[in-house]
Amino acid sequence: MLAGYWKYVVLSIALAAASPISPSLRASADRGGILVGTAVRPEQLSEPAYAATLAHEFNLLEPEDAMKWEVLHPAPETFDFTQADRIVPFAAQHNMKVRGHTLVWHQQNPKWLTEGRYTPDQLAQILEKHVKTVVGHYRGKVFAWDVVNEAFDERVVGKFRRTIWYDQPGIRRARKGSSYIEDCFRWAHEADPAALLFYNDAEAEAMNPKSDEIYAMVRDFRRRGVPIDGVGLQMHISNLHPDIPSISENIDRFTALGVQVHITEMDVALPVDADGNAEAEDLQLQAEIYRNIAAACLSHPGCTAIQTWGFTDKYSWIGSHSKRTQGAALLFDRNYRPKPAYDALRSVLERSRHR
Ligand code: G3I
Repeated sequence: MLAGYWKYVVLSIALAAASPISPSLRASADRGGILVGTAVRPEQLSEPAYAATLAHEFNLLEPEDAMKWEVLHPAPETFDFTQADRIVPFAAQHNMKVRGHTLVWHQQNPKWLTEGRYTPDQLAQILEKHVKTVVGHYRGKVFAWDVVNEAFDERVVGKFRRTIWYDQPGIRRARKGSSYIEDCFRWAHEADPAALLFYNDAEAEAMNPKSDEIYAMVRDFRRRGVPIDGVGLQMHISNLHPDIPSISENIDRFTALGVQVHITEMDVALPVDADGNAEAEDLQLQAEIYRNIAAACLSHPGCTAIQTWGFTDKYSWIGSHSKRTQGAALLFDRNYRPKPAYDALRSVLERSRHR
């Protein structure tokens, strides 16, 4: 234990000393009043290089899976906060903010819930209890929540995704548009009125039919006083030529509604060989994408957080979800060495102090 601690201290000092001229990401971000964050896995916090890099570079973190239903709510009457409760104190010790992810999603739900054949009334009660218990548990500790995640269907324009929460059987609001989402935001707000409440989605980063739908929902919520504070744009990128002006225009229209935008899950997946290595040329292209997305965000005062979905290529969902054909998507390589993408992001954060 002690040996582990000293390794951690030595690593922290080494990282701090690694670059006497260049500040860390978080030092640059702090000066500009920006949050720079990453998704984290609790089982890795005991790895010295992981913990030291995390604490040194980021002022924001978000549990990658540890706050999802299957982890937090393993049986109808059981809440288990063990995993997430390893992450939240780490953030407090290192003066980092915590984003919570996610209260309502169609994936990573426990079998007792998905196979329980509950009625809409029962489901509404179960969901209300979950939202209020989880948000209440972290009241004052989680500053922002992804309340609802990926509720729009990317295959059918203008349609809500058909899920247990929406219409299968739904929580008493089946096929009534966003009204089930509204309920969730109101429950979360009751449990922690100070927490910022976000709607988070994928493939809605640029101007497109899906982001149009989300925009219409957020505008409606704002007009009617539904407590929504922000929109999370996930930013999982695998096309190496994203439409930056369109992403910027989208951020522009959301922030004009008076809500914040967070980039919540950024990674840029590259083709990799059997050892997980990407081409040098692609790593440069990747750096430009990080640079341009960060710059697009920071050109809007309402875009207040840039978060990546993990930070070391040693641990990322991309490998297992692409049968190892893609990877190298993050800011640090598998040995925690900063990549060109790291330098690109830091240089944008450095300039952010002038915004
Ligand atoms: O729970 C089992 C565990 O019991 C088992 O030991 C382990 C062995 O591999 O697998 C565990 O389940 C994995 C789970 O993460 C928890 O670690 C699943 O196989 C794995 O598929 C699952 O992947 C997560 C994925 O969401 C689920 O769709 C990724 O880690 C996570 O990065 C990813 O995150 C999502 C965001 O929440 C929402 N936006 C998209 C993003 C990427 O898909």
